[in-house]
Amino acid sequence: MNTYLLYPSGLFTARRGGGRRSAAIYPPRAKPSTRCTTTIAPPYSHAPPSSNIAAMSINQKLEEALNNQVIAEHQAALVYTQLAYELDRLSLTGMSAWMFAQADEEREHAQRFADHLIDRDSRVNLKTIELPEIKIESALEAFELSLAHEKKVSAMIRDLVRVAEEVKDIDSRPLLDSFLSEQVEEEATVGEIIDRLKMVGADGSGLLRLDAQLGGRE
Ligand SMILES: [Fe+2]
Repeated sequence: MNTYLLYPSGLFTARRGGGRRSAAIYPPRAKPSTRCTTTIAPPYSHAPPSSNIAAMSINQKLEEALNNQVIAEHQAALVYTQLAYELDRLSLTGMSAWMFAQADEEREHAQRFADHLIDRDSRVNLKTIELPEIKIESALEAFELSLAHEKKVSAMIRDLVRVAEEVKDIDSRPLLDSFLSEQVEEEATVGEIIDRLKMVGADGSGLLRLDAQLGGRE
């Protein structure tokens, strides 16, 4: 089954509220060729070459790590949702909308990992998704927490790459490479927002301008 997903990327000012979304098409994995290079006398065999079967199977250790990543992405979505509620409580509705959009993105990430497992005849097991208690009293606190979480996710993706290399799994490489780039972008985006929040400091009007910008209202 080929799955075509539009995958959004771009700066934080562009990704919220329906602004510019530089979309890249995540390419479907190439199907293994079943073309015969030798002439076979009837009755013809339609069984795929055994090397193709081996290419689709997934190592158990990698399977478990990918499943844990599905769980981690759903957990990230919950963290962002909780932060959205907290920011709404502080009347920072633009930043709250930004966090809700981020939660949607995390669910997309979870789906991409889940699709990969299912496409390789594996299964997804969500088990228990735990959420730490999250309470914030400022926008800066919210985004610093967000950055800490992104760094944790980045470390998990790097571990996944190491597992894939260890078990010599080539098929997961395009997926993992795309997530390595994604995490660099995520950390940079949140870092930039933190820098701006620090510049704004106690200036209420500056904070409201940034809130409106993040909410996609200007
Ligand atoms: Fe993610």
